[in-house]
This record gives sequence, C-alpha cells and structure tokens, in this order.
Amino acid sequence: MSIIISPSILGGSFANMQDTIKHIDQSKAEYIHFDVMDGDFVPNLTFGPQFISNVRQYSKKIFDVHLMINRVGKFLDDYLKAGSDIITFHLEIDENIKELISKIKTNNIKCGIAIKPATPWEDLKPYLNDIDQIIIMTVEPGFGGQKFMNDQLSKITELKNYISKHHLSLDLEVDGGINFETGKQCVEAGANILVAGSFLFKQKNLSQAASELFDYFN
Ligand code: DX5
Ligand code: ZN
Repeated sequence: MSIIISPSILGGSFANMQDTIKHIDQSKAEYIHFDVMDGDFVPNLTFGPQFISNVRQYSKKIFDVHLMINRVGKFLDDYLKAGSDIITFHLEIDENIKELISKIKTNNIKCGIAIKPATPWEDLKPYLNDIDQIIIMTVEPGFGGQKFMNDQLSKITELKNYISKHHLSLDLEVDGGINFETGKQCVEAGANILVAGSFLFKQKNLSQAASELFDYFN
C-alpha cells in the first residue's frame, strides 16, 4: 500500500499562504492538510471556510480538512462549498455523528472521524462502516510543533487489526509530531497517511522536504 503524505499548512505564515500552497502543490505529496480551529474545541484559532475557498484555486491536490471545532453541523455547508475533498471532524464533539457522516457522504465528499489521544479507538466502532478515514491524533490537538506521543502506536495497530479482520476499507491517518522516525513507527503500526507540519517547515525547502518524505515511504 502506498503511503500518502498530507503536509499541514499550520506551520506556514498566513501572510503568504498562497506561496505555501504553491510550494506544496509542486511536491509529490498528494494531500494538503487544513487545520481548522475555533478556539473553543481547542485553545487555538486558525481559519474558516472562506480561507479554504480562497486557496482552492492554487492546487488540485486533495484538500484534507481537519475540523477541530464544535458546532460542525452549523458550518458544514460552508466547508462542503469551500472545496474540501475530505472533511474530518472529532468524535468528542456533542453532535449527532451519524447525521454529520450522512450529510458529508450525500455530498460525495469523503468523511473522516478524528480521535484525541485520550479517546479509546473502540469508541469509533459504531461508525467504521460509514466513513472513509480515521485521524489518530499523536499530539493533543490545537498546536503544531508538539512532541509525538508514542503511547498512541498501539491504538494504530489495534485499529489496523480490527479493520483487516472486518474487511473494512478505511484509511488510517496519523497527525502530530511526524518526521522520518515517528512516521516510520506509525507506518509499521499500520498507518497509511502521514500528516506533517513543523518538520517540513523546518527544512530549507518545503516542496523538496515533502517530496523527500514521500520518497522515503514509497
Ligand atoms: C494539531 C494539528 C496537526 C498539526 C501537525 O492540532 O491537527 O495537523 O498541525 O503539526 P506538527 O506536524 O507540527 O505536529
Ligand atoms: Zn490536523
């Protein structure tokens, strides 16, 4: 199975996000990861649907939208219209999960559910037949540049085993503190999509760094 790289733009400056998107667009990464934060579900605030629709014109890559927000239902239409290709919300929100899944799917957009480090993967079981991807947070959601949480590796393996045993077609995306070393641990545990933010932005050339990460795993 090929490993998908999803660079998170959170490491970039919002003052010249057009350049960031263009650099990622020139790389071998297939996805672009958009970390939407509302300052309520997580203690940080980033951008909304308008931003995503504004940058949609700069790349044909898969827009992998990670909603770290409450009140997903209220804003879902806006993210659907903004040009998202995958919309992932968090299991920990206080909303009707099945309704959100159905709304995303009826719009022919891929649907994902993300879980925080403290959330057992088993809580996802009622939804695994209906969604396309799971995001396993390997940091506490809210900020880039945090340390990878090794204790999440067993969650990846247990989920992978469950998915295989039940013949489900689900992507396993890991998000937070990913570099060559932690990415390798996650792929060995069963992940097939790697989100990377600060690790890529720390390198001299973002586009080259994203392509090197892709080449390392494929
Ligand atoms: C954290 C976000 C992650 C983060 C990844 O809440 O969901 O996507 O930006 O950044 P790094 O790779 O720096 O941990
Ligand atoms: Zn994310």
